[in-house]
Amino acid sequence: MSYLDQLNKQSKEGRGSDSEPATEKPAVVETADEADTPTTVDLKREYEKAGVRDVLEELDRELIGLAPVKKRIRETAALLLVERARRRLGLAHETPTLHMSFTGNPGTGKTTVALKMANLLHRLGYIRKGHLVSVTRDDLVGQYIGHTAPKTKEILKKAMGGVLFIDEAYYLYRPENERDYGQEAIEILLQVMENQRDDLVVILAGYADRMDRFFESNPGFRSRIAHHIDFPDYSDNELLHIAIGMLERQNYHLTEEAKATLASYIEHRRQQPHFANARSIRNALDRARLRQANRLFEGDTGPLDAEKLSEIAAEDIAASRVFRQKPGLNAEYVHPERDEETER
Ligand SMILES: Nc1ncnc2c1ncn2[C@@H]1O[C@H](COP(=O)(O)OP(=O)(O)OP(=O)(O)O)[C@@H](O)[C@H]1O
Ligand SMILES: [Mg+2]
Repeated sequence: MSYLDQLNKQSKEGRGSDSEPATEKPAVVETADEADTPTTVDLKREYEKAGVRDVLEELDRELIGLAPVKKRIRETAALLLVERARRRLGLAHETPTLHMSFTGNPGTGKTTVALKMANLLHRLGYIRKGHLVSVTRDDLVGQYIGHTAPKTKEILKKAMGGVLFIDEAYYLYRPENERDYGQEAIEILLQVMENQRDDLVVILAGYADRMDRFFESNPGFRSRIAHHIDFPDYSDNELLHIAIGMLERQNYHLTEEAKATLASYIEHRRQQPHFANARSIRNALDRARLRQANRLFEGDTGPLDAEKLSEIAAEDIAASRVFRQKPGLNAEYVHPERDEETER
């Protein structure tokens, strides 16, 4: 059982666990008596008080699958809670390096998890503000000489106190150009990652293989990144559950038949080009809602109740181009997620 699972369990069981003596007063001294170092710290209480439990529960609830990712996040939370407790008790402590890399295919949840991570790190007191600034190469690197440093510094200024999320980070490095301006951005980033790591967390994101090559050519990045988190592709079943969850949050639901049709949609869609995991599902649902609206509008259905307005039927999914397309690229290829309705 992981450390935080234990914490969870203990707090569910109430006070008086056998590992700690039951104390009447909160163990952490909060009153401003600087001279006194507290002698004990109640981690469980800290965990609740900082709202860390809320974030972790939200993560578990809202995100389907991603078990290894969730585990890593819980471990990070435990590490930071313990570091903080050690500091309070006057033990040797070191601000842990938290720069990370998130690798995985499109639509596997990297941006979503980065947002949650920013919130968590803020609640744990690691970063001051907890916002996320998401950028790509073009936000950091200029077109002309002398433009890159001010651009990069401006972004860094914006991101201070929060998380800087660099999507497709490997585009920063272009070995084919002898003096690419990307190199300038890289040097500034490396410096800040080292010197201001207690106020800025950098997350590099992208495809795993390209990121590996990027780290090989830029060992400075590799050595500054403590956590590599891999985001696996979702299984068909996970994608179906992601769809159900997305619809639920929008007050829609699938009929039983529609569920089966969507399951088959997922199987087909996966084999076609530009498949982007949960993002493809989100797009498919947008179009299903469009078809549902058209069906209700054009059909002679009489007055509609909430049930009818919330129901996605099999035909709303079965009309998708995905069912008409052969796997792989072919002459008549059209992006499976292109909006068909607007072509009429
Ligand atoms: N595990 C999940 N459970 C529920 N919804 C998810 C999950 N993963 C991703 N999503 C949803 O799928 C969409 C795409 O996710 P996100 O943008 O985080 O992916 P990404 O890995 O950053 O993709 P990209 O590489 O395309 O930027 C978002 O709407 C997100 O809410
Ligand atoms: Mg993203």
